[in-house]
Amino acid sequence: MSGIPKIVVTGGNGQLGKELQELSSSHPQFEFYFLTREDMPIDNFELIRNYFGTLKPAYCINCAAYTAVDRAESERDLAFQVNGEAVGVLAAICKEHNTKFVHISTDYIFNGEGTYPYTENFPTDPVNVYGASKLEGEKQAIGFNPGCIIIRTSWVYSSFGKNFVKTMMRLMNEKDEVRVVNDQVGSPTYAADLAEVILKIIPDWKPGIYNFSNEGIITWYEFAVAIKEIINCACDVLPITTSGYPTPAKRPAYSVLDKTKIQETFGVRLKDWRESLKNCIAKIQD
Ligand SMILES: NC(=O)c1ccc[n+]([C@@H]2O[C@H](COP(=O)([O-])OP(=O)(O)OC[C@H]3O[C@@H](n4cnc5c(N)ncnc54)[C@H](OP(=O)(O)O)[C@@H]3O)[C@@H](O)[C@H]2O)c1
Repeated sequence: MSGIPKIVVTGGNGQLGKELQELSSSHPQFEFYFLTREDMPIDNFELIRNYFGTLKPAYCINCAAYTAVDRAESERDLAFQVNGEAVGVLAAICKEHNTKFVHISTDYIFNGEGTYPYTENFPTDPVNVYGASKLEGEKQAIGFNPGCIIIRTSWVYSSFGKNFVKTMMRLMNEKDEVRVVNDQVGSPTYAADLAEVILKIIPDWKPGIYNFSNEGIITWYEFAVAIKEIINCACDVLPITTSGYPTPAKRPAYSVLDKTKIQETFGVRLKDWRESLKNCIAKIQD
């Protein structure tokens, strides 16, 4: 048996899972095992228990989640099953096997009525089903595995999967104008930066909740304008209010995370959101 610590990554086909997969080749100090939903649904507890029992990984990074924010409004049970109950079981199985458990959570656990960046202790109060299911996941993770690490992140994008950046790039190439909400404020996160940070912090394991995103505070409109500038597209980007773009799930208006704790605890350096956006777009266009 090799002495190299094994890392199981669930949700291996998602944005974060794929970024971790890409980073894995430059991290030979770990042995990675990527699980997709097809291989191993995280709500198939028997399968998960047997797998962990046999492999006995040192770490599990849970990138699997029900992330369809609007659909969750009409699929509450499924959202809670994947983002809530399954997280608790996974956390408990990890505890059983001495596997250190990393879980990813979201800015959507806050109601968005704040006016300054949320620290990890700020009171939670989700305004949609997805946020409520993710908050339940946090409670389950800590309840069943108090030694876990939870990383809350926001506005995640990547060259992989579906996200705001890729949608905007497509729309800007197809249309003369796009309208984007200018009254929701947050900080984007390039999933590649988050993946890097996870691998940096886990050897120096310190349990708790940590916020992480790129540096900078913007609206979705400002994000879209930056995308337009980077891809050098003639399409007009027009600011609208949230009421001009109704969605089944309510979004928090202000969802900026305070990242002081992760910086001070682990010496993490935050990348500027625009620098990371340029890196991602360069990769998409490569
Ligand atoms: N995206 C964001 O803006 C954002 C913001 C804040 C926090 N987060 C959190 O960050 C984490 C990573 O998000 P992401 O953007 O990488 O999500 P993503 O791209 O939607 O990936 C999630 C993955 O989970 C898989 N999955 C869904 N149900 C599953 C199940 N029952 N068993 C196993 N796998 C399952 C999906 O499989 P399929 O590919 O088959 O669908 C998908 O590959 C999640 O915890 C998410 O809640 C995301």
